[in-house]
Amino acid sequence: MREIDDLVPLLEAIVSYIDEGVLLTDRDGTVLYQNPAAAELLVAPGAGPLQSLADIRGVDLKDALDRVLERAPAQPENAITPNLIQFDMRIKVRDEMRDLEFHCCRACDTYGNLRLVILRDKTDERRLETLLSRSSGDLVTKDPTMMEILERVERVAPMQAPVLIQGETGTGKTHIARLLHRLSNRSRRPFVEFNCASTPVPLIEAELFGHARGAFGEINGERAGKLKAADTGTLFLDEVSALPAHLQTKLLKALQDGAFEPVGSDTPVTADVRMITASNRNLRGLVEAGEFRADLYYRLAVFPITVPPIRERPGDIPLLLAHFCDKLAERGYPRDFSYSPEARRLLIDYPWPGNVREMETAIEHALICCVDNVIVPESLPHDIRNFDHLPVVSVKPAVRPSEADEKVQIQTALARAGGNKSLAAKYLGIDRTTLWRKMRRLRISERAQIAAPEDAREMRTN
Ligand SMILES: Nc1ncnc2c1ncn2[C@@H]1O[C@H](COP(=O)(O)OP(=O)(O)OP(=O)(O)O)[C@@H](O)[C@H]1O
Ligand SMILES: [Mg+2]
Repeated sequence: MREIDDLVPLLEAIVSYIDEGVLLTDRDGTVLYQNPAAAELLVAPGAGPLQSLADIRGVDLKDALDRVLERAPAQPENAITPNLIQFDMRIKVRDEMRDLEFHCCRACDTYGNLRLVILRDKTDERRLETLLSRSSGDLVTKDPTMMEILERVERVAPMQAPVLIQGETGTGKTHIARLLHRLSNRSRRPFVEFNCASTPVPLIEAELFGHARGAFGEINGERAGKLKAADTGTLFLDEVSALPAHLQTKLLKALQDGAFEPVGSDTPVTADVRMITASNRNLRGLVEAGEFRADLYYRLAVFPITVPPIRERPGDIPLLLAHFCDKLAERGYPRDFSYSPEARRLLIDYPWPGNVREMETAIEHALICCVDNVIVPESLPHDIRNFDHLPVVSVKPAVRPSEADEKVQIQTALARAGGNKSLAAKYLGIDRTTLWRKMRRLRISERAQIAAPEDAREMRTN
């Protein structure tokens, strides 16, 4: 027994460190023990520790526990691990609805009077599941920043506001533009795509605005352009930064007036078009450099969305790989294959400069070149195989830092992420919900703007 007694402080330290809430109550709902995570999940800030389950506003947790445990099968005698029963509840904490998952059991005491409750915050996960199922499931992600983007897409989709989607090549801008149209109330109307960078400059005007009969010589008939083709629907202008200056002016006028003149015609044509534009160059930077019209930028960027590159959402890598493998299996590629540990390491460490598109082609290459249905480093494209990866430094401390250190660490990450909590959480190697809880525990203001100290630049996500 002496050894067990010695372990108690260690066990307490572990329980106070974990992200799950842990509560021990008696039969009347009096709280006998709570770890910091439980208090953060259930109690409003400044309310002090939870004395009784009855203190939790808006929900009768004691009654819920009674009902669940009443129906629970009896714990087998001498059972070492308790029979945990799971149930979910929505609780309003700090004016915000939280989806909590509870695991509970009668704790092993002589009279069966104690109750052990373990809580997990599933709010972000549930929100993501709902969003993804609504967006017809073809956008694969579990990344908090992407989740926020999906929420923004859902919010703006039913409006007429122009949307500007920016991000590196292959991050999914076109994918998101199509999703936006699908979720809009123009979804049954045309969705017209036009890539300004892949069309020769002399042809862009006629392609976009159309041309009158004979505009390019006798044999040319009249032709409606993309703007007219998108009438009552959505026009997706990809690589809008490649639009020449005189056409930037013409497009701005068309958007302001809802009308424009086709090439070789004086007769205005009307079009009611919802604009979505995309660029993998920073459009605001181009405005500042005098390469893009500021007034057109403001017209297009009413609702800007920036899609993060894959290296900023490494958690999506396994998901996307699995997604593309499923798609390839439908096309006859092997379904039963595995990765060698080295190949897996390379796929995770590689910075994916071509983002999701590069992943899509890399996995196809790997499946063509796999050896006995195992993807080995030699199965991967040359760039990935020869990627000279740097060791990734974890910023997760081995032991819990002091509150002051933890506060500085969080403030530094927030400053470095420009206040973006999802990104800051990534820098810290924790999820967003945990960051949110820590911020409240340490009373870190959401608006605090603190300059990042020098050493913060050494931080890497893990
Ligand atoms: N989150 C995602 N889930 C599933 N597929 C995705 C996702 N993001 C991108 N894709 C797929 O990856 C490929 C590249 O995406 P997309 O064409 O949308 O990138 P992009 O940002 O528009 O690239 P570019 O800048 O070159 O136009 C497409 O086949 C797209 O369907
Ligand atoms: Mg695109």
